[in-house]
Amino acid sequence: MTKKTDRKIKITGTGMYVPDKILTNADLEKMVDTSDEWIVTRTGIRERRIAAKDQATSDLGIIAARRALRSARLEPQDIDVIIVATHTPDHYFPATACLVQAGLKAGLVPAFDVIGGCTGFLYGLILAEGLIFSGAAKRALVIGAEMLTRITNWEDRNTCVLFGDGAGAVVVEESKDDSGMLSHFWQADGNLGPLLIMPAGGSKLPACHDTVAKRQHTLHMKGNEVFKHAVKRMTEAGDEAMKRAGIKKDAVDWLIPHQANMRIIEATGERLGIPRERVYVNIHRYGNVSVACIPIALDELNQSGQLKKGTVALLDAFGAGFTWAAVVLRW
Ligand code: UT7
Repeated sequence: MTKKTDRKIKITGTGMYVPDKILTNADLEKMVDTSDEWIVTRTGIRERRIAAKDQATSDLGIIAARRALRSARLEPQDIDVIIVATHTPDHYFPATACLVQAGLKAGLVPAFDVIGGCTGFLYGLILAEGLIFSGAAKRALVIGAEMLTRITNWEDRNTCVLFGDGAGAVVVEESKDDSGMLSHFWQADGNLGPLLIMPAGGSKLPACHDTVAKRQHTLHMKGNEVFKHAVKRMTEAGDEAMKRAGIKKDAVDWLIPHQANMRIIEATGERLGIPRERVYVNIHRYGNVSVACIPIALDELNQSGQLKKGTVALLDAFGAGFTWAAVVLRW
């Protein structure tokens, strides 16, 4: 759907949190048959953060959310909907968003989770726009919080080198000027779901000794298949979002792509025609933090003063589902 309104939502605060513990490629060399050289050249990742044993996804989300609220100069009671994108909720239920609400001591506002693959944060942002435009909410807290290291098979070198833990959050309100979300594009294709999946733990394969023994509660991925789809779909989404915003690639100050693989990031940037110096990259420091990649990048750019009034950012993601989405923001 193309937007048919001049109304816009805007991000008025950003925050992030990553755990202190760093797992380097050298550490991984001692755990599986891999090398720093392979990981860096094939993925761009040098290190990733690992949550402490007593931390859960909501703990990461709460810290990021508090920082986003502080940056928006708001209190938790000022928020009237909480959306958490995650695949690694504290529990199957209650929703992690409800635990975040309790942890923040926010009001009795609606709170729910979104499972949208690594695209989940952008899905959350687009949902927040709909809620604000409908009058259901004035201010939304959208959080991407993830602990993929809790569903990682640490004996599978194909996947265990890729992921890290972290959270990012934004406060979203209706814009009163010409800044804000200029366009969005979101799609999914469930036919390709089995290529990136945690097979067990749901209604299809409930947890039992057998599923645990077969490590079906961990992330399974056909990496090179996913790779091809990621580049194709992120390119399409980025192009379509720019078209819907009525802008050309030269108007984009920052491409903020999902950080799954440096080669995916570079290929997407090249296909979209956005030069490398305008593509934001932090994969070397955090690995793939799933739904947290984009809000962490937004906060890093915001706190370092690189998002100025009028700066145009193209956010672009792809993930399990498959899902993909892109959003154009004018800061
Ligand atoms: O965030 C959601 C979406 N996720 C993604 O977008 C991830 C997309 N996929 C990727 O990023 C890449 O496909 C990977 C990084 C996962 C893998 O890179 P690749 O270049 O596609 O490698 P491959 O899977 O084709 O494997 C090439 C070789 C294999 O060895 P043989 O069969 O050629 O002898 C693998 O066994 O690399 C081997 N390999 C490794 N070697 C050392 C795979 N993982 C490792 C490793 N260390 N960690």
